[in-house]
Amino acid sequence: MNNFQYFTPTKVIFGKDTESQAGDLVKEQKGTKVLVHYGTGSVKRSGLLDRVYASLDKAGIPYVSLGGVVPNPRLSMVYKGIELCKKEDVDFILAVGGGSAIDSAKAIAYGLKYDGDVWDLYLKKEVPQDAMPLGVILTIAATGSEMSNSSVITNEEGWLKRGLNHDISRPRFAIMNPELTYTLPEYQTMSGCTDIMMHTMERYFSHEMDTDLTDYLAEGLLKAVMHAAKVLLTKPEDYDARAEILWAGSLSHNGLTGCGRLGDWACHQLEHELGGMFDVAHGAGLAAVWGSWARYVYKSDVARFAKFAVNVMGIPYDYADPEKTALEGIEALENFFRSIHMPVSISELGVELNDDQIKELAHKCSFMDTRTIGGIQKLDKKDIAEIYRMAK
Ligand code: NZQ
Ligand code: ZN
Repeated sequence: MNNFQYFTPTKVIFGKDTESQAGDLVKEQKGTKVLVHYGTGSVKRSGLLDRVYASLDKAGIPYVSLGGVVPNPRLSMVYKGIELCKKEDVDFILAVGGGSAIDSAKAIAYGLKYDGDVWDLYLKKEVPQDAMPLGVILTIAATGSEMSNSSVITNEEGWLKRGLNHDISRPRFAIMNPELTYTLPEYQTMSGCTDIMMHTMERYFSHEMDTDLTDYLAEGLLKAVMHAAKVLLTKPEDYDARAEILWAGSLSHNGLTGCGRLGDWACHQLEHELGGMFDVAHGAGLAAVWGSWARYVYKSDVARFAKFAVNVMGIPYDYADPEKTALEGIEALENFFRSIHMPVSISELGVELNDDQIKELAHKCSFMDTRTIGGIQKLDKKDIAEIYRMAK
């Protein structure tokens, strides 16, 4: 087992009607003026936003609002948020929505404590030293941003999507009411389930062998999410299934399922370029590339892929041919993605890639040919292009 740090400072308030506690939680964090930051309308339509305002009013906390965060959140919105918060003397940010609203809130939080252009932090020109405190009311089980140290922002200039990971951006609290997720369209629910699974799988597929507890946690989480996703296909308002994936989303990306492991993360890097250039839903993009990535790299650790096949996908182990077991596991997961109506190729995402676009994606994903991605197998620009080609 590798050395590791596990830091999860986020207070979780989980269950029915918990959004009514928002005002008191901001008060507890000593917030005196709040930016309520949200997406393109779902929180208005559901009435959630009004309930959040009522809770802030009740706690006597003044606020300003900024809506309009789009999926694959944009840098221009972040600049807008920073300007508004400065003008209004905001000292606490409350994100109401999914990963996009939360990530945009985190970027604003960084920007408020940084004198230069916040995009420099995402380009790793500077390391953030501080961030405005933020809290979250989550409306979709997916990214785990409510407990994670990540924020992913798209710069419209060049359509570069870049992530920034730093513990100072971890939310102070996360309110999670499974009922708030009932209004999600099936595609977003399943895209979220895929993302949750991928956050654990990215940590699972690396070479360390002696992390039994972490592996059991990972395998259990994956099985629970697959089961709940199937339930939600026919019963989207099943409280327990919604609760399972909501909690799994947080645990899948707060570090728990990767303790002692190095992780891989190639699929996320592959998807981020697709999201930046073609604005696809993040989880669906991951499903579209995973099978091609897995077939490209599985030979570098057949035992690991076979373990996944047996322990997660229920494939019988073929002692004479472990490679066959590994491949059957990959196929079984692709079939699962199909069963929850997720794409297993980029064309099924609605994107028909030509060769120039593949080259551009590979160039961007390799940071203009200056880095490799992946842990189980290091992938350079040529490998990356080949995987996009296979996934086409
Ligand atoms: O904008 P609104 O109207 O709110 O609609 C959203 C959006 O269209 C809708 N939605 C959310 N909750 C809803 C709802 N519709 C009805 N009822 C509800 N309860 O769903 C759509 C997707 O929302 P979004 O916030 O974009 O989804 P998600 O949570 O999947 O976030 C995706 C973003 O997070 C990044 C992704 O790359 C992508 O940009 N990620 C962030 C991570 C992190 N910070 O730790 C890790 C991930 O790997 C990921 O990269
Ligand atoms: Zn993800």
